[in-house]
Amino acid sequence: MKKLAFASLFIFLFSNLTSCTTDYYYPVEEPEMSGISDDSADDPADDPMDDPATDQNDPDPSDPASDADPDAGYITYYGDVEPILKQLCVACHNTTVHEDGVDLSTYDKAKYSFNDIIESMQEDEDDIMPPSGPVDYSIIATILDWKDDGFREGQVSAPDTGNTDGTYTYTADIKPLIDQECIVCHGATGAAAGFDISSYDKTVSQIDAIIGRIDLQTGQAGIMPTAGRMEEIKIQKFIDWYTQGMPE
Ligand code: HEC
Ligand code: HEC
Repeated sequence: MKKLAFASLFIFLFSNLTSCTTDYYYPVEEPEMSGISDDSADDPADDPMDDPATDQNDPDPSDPASDADPDAGYITYYGDVEPILKQLCVACHNTTVHEDGVDLSTYDKAKYSFNDIIESMQEDEDDIMPPSGPVDYSIIATILDWKDDGFREGQVSAPDTGNTDGTYTYTADIKPLIDQECIVCHGATGAAAGFDISSYDKTVSQIDAIIGRIDLQTGQAGIMPTAGRMEEIKIQKFIDWYTQGMPE
């Protein structure tokens, strides 16, 4: 029964998708191009003294290792900046594809390109990075805070191997995945296409659309993340969590 419903969901999504391949569009958020200013001071994510548990970009608070993290409360490359660059830039700026000679795929390269990154994200409409259009200012502010915090490198998060018993929960498995792959574009503020998956409830209520979009092929219209199909293990995790009834 579940299987059948799932299959028809796919057919439904596919027919929907193919019918809207031509009107693929990019969101144009209200650009806050007032330059590099303090207007982000009221953003709690910008305060390095903030409780890391309230910062969506910080390590999962349920991870016991983060208690002892010397970088807790600070913006770090691995904790905050790499996920942003990966989701927004690295598809076009890596070791093999490096548009304009720009490679943003490592800590050293990102640090070296800091000024270019900040400038390129606030260019005029024609030259802006990513080319899809301006992103929410809070994202730029996070990268600026990385410099203010001293370009901390942080710690590489443990490889995402999944739960050993094959059962998944939102908190332990799905939220970290969304934070890593989607949240820069689909957070509570400036959500691309108004599509906000920043909470358990929002994820559950929009799971059909999520699975429909992540299980497309790289290059196919509508694939999410926009940079291309994720590793199979991640896609399978979303699907398994769905079939397991989406436990919180
Ligand atoms: C879809 C591909 C694509 C993505 C995604 C992308 N870029 Fe680019 N980038 C380009 C291309 C093409 C050029 C060269 C032509 C131009 O300047 O428009 C370029 C040029 C640049 C340059 C050098 C010229 C300049 O504008 O200063 C920088 C720096 C840059 N990108 C940074 C970024 C950053 C930072 C991101 C993510 C926030 C990003 N790019 C995302 C394609 C991309
Ligand atoms: C670099 C930015 C970016 C990233 C990262 C990204 N998306 Fe998107 N997403 C978009 C844009 C732009 C749109 C609107 C255009 C479209 O519908 O294809 C969109 C649309 C969607 C839609 C359709 C929304 C609707 O109203 O039907 C879904 C579902 C979606 N994304 C899911 C995801 C998931 C799940 C991830 C992570 C695995 C993800 N996206 C990562 C930019 C992104």
